[in-house]
Amino acid sequence: MIEHKKLKEFVENSARMCQPDRIHWCDGSQEEYQLMIRLMVHAGTAIWLNPLKRPNSIFVRSDPMDVARVEDRTFICSVRREDAGPNNNWADPAEMKATLSKFLSGSMKGRTMYVIPYSMGPTHSPIANIGIELTDSPYVVANMHIMTRVGSNVMDVLNTHGEFVRGIHSVGAPLIPTDPDSPWPCNAHHKYICHFPETREIWSYGSGYGGNALLGKKCHALRIASVQARDEMWLAEHMLILKLISPEGEVKFVAGAFPSACGKTNLAMMVPTLPGWEVQTVGDDIAWMKFGEDGRLRAINPEAGFFGVAPGTSLRSNRNALLACSKNAIFTNCALTPDSDVWWEGMTETDPEDLTDWLRRPWKPDCGRNAAHPNSRFTAPAVQCPVIAPEWDDPAGVPIDAILFGGRRAGVVPLVIEAFNWTHGTFLGATVSSETTAAASGKVGQLRRDPMAMLPFCGYNMADYFSHWLKIGQQVDPKKLPKIYYVNWFRQSAEGKFLWPGFGENCRVLKWIFGRITGRVEALETPIGNMPTPGSLDLTGLDITPESIETLLSVDVEGWLSELPNIQSYFEMFAERLPEALYQELSSLRERLNRVIR
Ligand code: OXD
Ligand code: MN
Repeated sequence: MIEHKKLKEFVENSARMCQPDRIHWCDGSQEEYQLMIRLMVHAGTAIWLNPLKRPNSIFVRSDPMDVARVEDRTFICSVRREDAGPNNNWADPAEMKATLSKFLSGSMKGRTMYVIPYSMGPTHSPIANIGIELTDSPYVVANMHIMTRVGSNVMDVLNTHGEFVRGIHSVGAPLIPTDPDSPWPCNAHHKYICHFPETREIWSYGSGYGGNALLGKKCHALRIASVQARDEMWLAEHMLILKLISPEGEVKFVAGAFPSACGKTNLAMMVPTLPGWEVQTVGDDIAWMKFGEDGRLRAINPEAGFFGVAPGTSLRSNRNALLACSKNAIFTNCALTPDSDVWWEGMTETDPEDLTDWLRRPWKPDCGRNAAHPNSRFTAPAVQCPVIAPEWDDPAGVPIDAILFGGRRAGVVPLVIEAFNWTHGTFLGATVSSETTAAASGKVGQLRRDPMAMLPFCGYNMADYFSHWLKIGQQVDPKKLPKIYYVNWFRQSAEGKFLWPGFGENCRVLKWIFGRITGRVEALETPIGNMPTPGSLDLTGLDITPESIETLLSVDVEGWLSELPNIQSYFEMFAERLPEALYQELSSLRERLNRVIR
């Protein structure tokens, strides 16, 4: 018996629209998870992997038309167009609801509507938030079980009047009683991922994949939550959270924003190469940060699992991620080995002889195509990560000491810059740019500005988001705020070779940052920010040429000067809504760079 009147109405009204054959209220139990898997296996959506190699794990192949986030079909339906900003596709909320109501009408015929009560964050955390996702996809239910906290204790927290974000998701493929189901039902022609920020609603139609369908992740925890955070003076960010432990046992917490598929999961689970240093994982994708009573920003990871990009994940690049998905995992769009295990590009030193690719075709190393889709994914419970930090589900969150921004840049951006202060840090974050990857549909390898790695995920006008960041910096004594850094692991030589080894070696940069936070390490003031003095970055035992280090740690004055017009025109896109402080930062940067030239 559901005593929450608004929840009951939400489910009843949605069921009236979508017309499912039945309604299933999710309790988050193991039995329910197993039931979802059995349903998927029965429908041909999933196959069991070899239980001796991957206990309790399944492999799913999606429709080739449904493989990534669809940014051009993602809409922010705020009442006023200018509140969505030039960074979003806007649609009028009433018109969009009318359009979607037509699509959703009868969309769940022949299917079950699952009601998923989920919590983003530990259920009793003051930083957490509750959502209800209605979906007709068992794949979504199973993934939500791993990625969020689902079930009865969420209902207890909701009680009779608790607030919740409303999500409706349909794959948009009603079942005709005489027709067989397709292995990956979706709507090949129409996809809509719509957010109604004022009413905290998400309506998603036509796609069953990733962030389009697991509404807790990008839709709730970033697009809707960023609006909640703006209204309530906190931060909802596309950031990993890691715990850095020095050889002396001193601890610092670092959050980091990087665009999709730029190594966030690898950094969050890194195995440091410097003796005595340790990294533990709090989260790999999203951070919600609120001021604690002590005035410090405290962060939780609102998720409960990892939905990681598979290709490139190996024992060398990310042993801990590989171990995290050694059982109880879901794999999507990878390749299949003859003994029913998964494989993807970069997993092993040498490619296997024989595979079935993600499109079910025979595959050999010399066949000239990828075996796994470049955006193939693993879904694995956070607790299975061997280096999960004990604090990862602390309802109080962890105090953040440093924030990193980074992108994938072949040139100009050095290995690490420290912001002079919060406002300068906001400027650095606001100007992050990166070469695009396969996580979103569209061209790969093109440079785009991706402020705070939030371009696809900010649920409102990015100019207001920058103002919000600046305001956050004025809430407390600046000494209590995290220090801000801009890093680039992807700098290349003129010949196109990566100059920095990355992965576990990134701990050298983290060590320098640790030293800066504790005030024990020197920095050089440069026009673009504070940078390591020669000798302050620990390079012991690293096989790297002095020329590479020189390039990685120097200021490319000409390169930066040539970036400025691009930043200027990026800012101009936001017209008078862009905070003046960012224009000031831009002109101060120009002046500092010109002073070097003169
Ligand atoms: C993700 C993404 O899935 O950013 O985390 O694309
Ligand atoms: Mn992400």
